[in-house]
Amino acid sequence: MCGIVGFVGRRNAVPVLLEGLKRLEYRGYDSAGVAVLLDGQLQIRKCVGRLRNLEQQLQQAPLAGAPGIGHTRWATHGEPSDVNSHPHTDSSGRIAVVHNGIIENYQELRRELEQKGHIFRSETDTEVIPHLIENELADGAANFEDAVRRALRRARGAYALGILFADDPEILYAARHGSPLIVGVGDGEHFIASDVPAILNETSRVIYLNDGEIAVLKADGASVFTLDGRAVRPEIKKVEFQAEAIERAGFETFMMKEIHEQPRVLRSLIAKHIDSNGHAQLPGFSLADEYIKGLARIMIVSCGTAYHAGMYGRLLFENLAHVPVETDLASEFRYRNPMVDPGTLIIAVSQSGETADTLASVRLARKWGCKVLSICNVRGSTLTRESDAVFYTEAGPEIGVASTKAYTAQLMAFCLLTLHIARIRGTISDSATRELARALQRIPDAVHYVLGRKDDIQKIAGKHHDGPSSLYLGRKYNYPTALEGALKNKEISYQHAEGYAAGEMKHGPIALINEYLPVVCICTRTEDEVYDKMISNIKEVEARHGRIIAVATENDRTVAGLAEDVISVPDMRDEFSPIVNIVALQLLAYYAAQARGTDIDKPRNLAKSVTVE
Ligand code: G6P
Repeated sequence: MCGIVGFVGRRNAVPVLLEGLKRLEYRGYDSAGVAVLLDGQLQIRKCVGRLRNLEQQLQQAPLAGAPGIGHTRWATHGEPSDVNSHPHTDSSGRIAVVHNGIIENYQELRRELEQKGHIFRSETDTEVIPHLIENELADGAANFEDAVRRALRRARGAYALGILFADDPEILYAARHGSPLIVGVGDGEHFIASDVPAILNETSRVIYLNDGEIAVLKADGASVFTLDGRAVRPEIKKVEFQAEAIERAGFETFMMKEIHEQPRVLRSLIAKHIDSNGHAQLPGFSLADEYIKGLARIMIVSCGTAYHAGMYGRLLFENLAHVPVETDLASEFRYRNPMVDPGTLIIAVSQSGETADTLASVRLARKWGCKVLSICNVRGSTLTRESDAVFYTEAGPEIGVASTKAYTAQLMAFCLLTLHIARIRGTISDSATRELARALQRIPDAVHYVLGRKDDIQKIAGKHHDGPSSLYLGRKYNYPTALEGALKNKEISYQHAEGYAAGEMKHGPIALINEYLPVVCICTRTEDEVYDKMISNIKEVEARHGRIIAVATENDRTVAGLAEDVISVPDMRDEFSPIVNIVALQLLAYYAAQARGTDIDKPRNLAKSVTVE
């Protein structure tokens, strides 16, 4: 969602802002803008559409100056348009603001300010902020910082803000409450950004702002205050990953690069967490063994792809660690009465650690006295700071909007957590643990094998990409795989796709099957009856002339005899097959999207990190 970049220092802010905004493009946006201070005046360029439109505008009407703020907007209040793009200003044009989040009481504030004579130009909620600050300055605020504080005390909702004053030309103000914002610390300069990749080529030293904090940034210094004016000592942290982690490294898209990174990511998670006895070790894991032994229930909350990971985690925990588990979409969990108590462990799964609904669920659960374990990919993110324990998926920055390596890393996290919890609870024997660990260790090679079949997968996608819809079927461990495979297809190829538990097919989707409908059936070999049941489902599709694309274990002649196309995967244990099977479906979606000519890394309307509810 909206991306923010800001700069204060002794060089021209514009190239820094544009580069930062480019690195935030993956978050999803529909318009962009920048403001810089030049000779005591705020200069603004902004327009609807991609960053190249803004760059064109800047070529026609060049800008130079500092400090500066930049923004990519993902429309919530008011359509994508030039006038609704950020930065927004007050009536006098002496205060400029960029904002990520939603000001919930903006209508009431706007009415009040309009009555006082403020003229609003846009339909956005954001515009109330510069006007509120202007109002506080007129109303006796002691200084600019005080005006910001007073204004923000009146705003309800979520915000990350970058603020410039024409009359305070040495300072960049930033504030955060509920939306992500970091401060980058350079040599004689400071930055703000929605996340680290935006400024990683400038500095790797960052301050993670907390909710309710305001940063006052000058070229030579950074101070942080709370909304009531108390000074906070900012803690500067070193970011661990390198700028190269956010380059495409010769791949045509970030998504393709990230798909290919999966064997490495999985291998290093396994190497870090499985010891020579085949035991899962979770260094620094802060949930005591006694607590794990006494666990009454686990509740997994998450959104999107991370929700599918949670569904997989549930099966593992139930089958191997014998803990009752529920899963819920974070956006639903919040509005029901889930009857959790302090004996329930909440597991929040989130690539970004900034998803608004997931964070809200965690806050609610903590209020109910539950402990929170998060599975997260971003160090320093809000979720990790609000959790009792964190399992870092360590997949590295994921730039493609459609999640790939973060998903398989989440699945692996659940495997490792399950082994750990099952051992502590004594639900699996030592020899079974070792066998499972050995099977886990084979996963990276199996994923590698699937990557090696990408030409075959591309051909299959080329045959099926042009229809209006497709159906994805799976059972048990691969039911979440079916949902995730369909989601990938929808997200990047814009072809409608529906994931279904294969056993439910007869209760509706079977009506869709005809000789045109591609039906992706995940039917890898298993030791239980699920395989036979899947074969029956495939036969039902075949009988109705559906176009079957099967993901099947190599050399499975039964499936090959039924399907129009087969994507072969290595023989895997049932429990771990989803980590391999989904890679085939990521590639299938990828090549369908490529054939349909979509913008794979930045699919329309989607945001990488959904920071509003
Ligand atoms: C957005 C992204 C998805 C992601 C979901 C949850 O919808 O486009 O890829 O799965 O948010 O995000 P999270 O960061 O919490 O995993």
